[in-house]
Amino acid sequence: MSNGSSQVASADRGAWKSKLGFILAASGSAIGLGNIVFFASNAYQYGGGAFYLPYFVALFVIGIPVMIMEFSLGTMTGQSFPMALNRLVGKKGEVMGWFTMASALFITMYYITILGWALSMMFGAMGGLLTDPAVAPFTPFETPSGGPSATAYFFGLIATWKPMLAVVTIWVLTVLILWRGTSTIEAAVRVFVPLMWVFMIVLIVRGLTLDGGTDGVLYLFTPNLDGVSDINVWQGAFAQMFFSLSLGLGTMTAYASYLPKDADQINNSLLVSFLNCGFEYIAGVAIFAMLFVFALNPAGSTLSLSFFVIPQGIAAFPVGVKLFGTLFFFLVVIAGLTSAVSLVEGFAASIIDKLQISRTTALTMVLVPGIVGSLAFALPQIIDPGLSGNGTLGLTLLDILDHWAFRYALIFSGFMQCILIGWVFGADRLRQAANKYSKFHLGPWFNWLIKLVIPIMLGYVLVGTLIEDLTQDGGLYGSLYDLNAFEWLPTVIPLVWFVGSIALAVYLTFGRPTEQAPVA
Ligand code: PHE
Repeated sequence: MSNGSSQVASADRGAWKSKLGFILAASGSAIGLGNIVFFASNAYQYGGGAFYLPYFVALFVIGIPVMIMEFSLGTMTGQSFPMALNRLVGKKGEVMGWFTMASALFITMYYITILGWALSMMFGAMGGLLTDPAVAPFTPFETPSGGPSATAYFFGLIATWKPMLAVVTIWVLTVLILWRGTSTIEAAVRVFVPLMWVFMIVLIVRGLTLDGGTDGVLYLFTPNLDGVSDINVWQGAFAQMFFSLSLGLGTMTAYASYLPKDADQINNSLLVSFLNCGFEYIAGVAIFAMLFVFALNPAGSTLSLSFFVIPQGIAAFPVGVKLFGTLFFFLVVIAGLTSAVSLVEGFAASIIDKLQISRTTALTMVLVPGIVGSLAFALPQIIDPGLSGNGTLGLTLLDILDHWAFRYALIFSGFMQCILIGWVFGADRLRQAANKYSKFHLGPWFNWLIKLVIPIMLGYVLVGTLIEDLTQDGGLYGSLYDLNAFEWLPTVIPLVWFVGSIALAVYLTFGRPTEQAPVA
């Protein structure tokens, strides 16, 4: 799949020192907020055991095959996502690739804001967050103010400028880890990834040894087929799986492009997927154990489970409240940091490959809009004192953008990749390329998975979600918020995301020359 010049071009792009380095980096990308914050709240929302079947279908029928495809794109071409697609299917692939990368940039912005909040909560946990009765400056959910309340603490916190400092800190750390490309990424994941496994195991042991801790496990593991007929559960499972495995945002292709051509991508996909989903279930067990022991009710937004409910549980521990509280948020921060690094690398590598610019220039080009975006989500309450109900402007912005980018971008990208690779490039050529260096061989069934089964499933969920979104009472998502002067937000945010992504995609694909010609 490559010509001589691409090998020369890719020689100084960077390369993993070892297979272990790559596996640590790719699993560090996969394991993140998705595994801790979003999985538990999705699994709860969709009914624990009812989430099971859609989840495993999403893993085996969609997740692993799409990961094999995204990894193979990287090793077949030695390029990051948009340019890899350009090599294989031409400009139509590249334009789709840039659309995906634009969404990745939007998602990175709020992903890093959430990490900033987690970092602030970590410092809070070292201090009085879990031990002192919190006094909130206002009462968004009208939650208790008597005992230590993480909710009150959180809303008090985001009303100040402090999280903005935390957001800048996370961005700086991310860029430092990316400074020298694969070598600095590898050094960081060698420390952080094993550390997060150790911390998670400490937390699960603590959860299970609490009186009654095993009830939560039963809730999570007792299969229940109720959810199977509900499109929302499938939608939730597919979006969760894409996000959790870092698929549909070009990340895995960028990471795989630093591997030698003869890497066994089938083996790598299985390994990374199982590490990720194993971690996810361990995190789920630790969290559900706590929910059941302390009879906590995680209703509310996606973030509320990890930011309000878990701390509430930890505050009730017999001993080690500060220690476990700090540990929990530190875990969220390092797990998220290794994912944020991969998100930014996906974008930076793409513009390096396209524009042939230096890494420093590329990182600056991501950092400037990235930091502005992340700070917008961290804007304190004082900017919008009139907002009621669901909190601050930043949190509302984040929730609305997350709705569109998270629910559509990743699945749409997966759908388009299957169409382009399956039908234009040829699913069989992809299969041959993956089989060439693999001990385990994919049969012809794989072709039909890529050409038909996965696109039909993803297409069904996409169309179903869109119909639901456009026909629901009360207007577009977010219209029900009490937004006062900001009532244009629910319309403007999806427009900015969609039109902005298309404009960037068209400009970079057709407005900027490409160094190498496609070889497909
Ligand atoms: N997989 C990461 C998580 O679970 C998020 C992510 C998605 C990272 C896509 C990179 C690309 O938190």
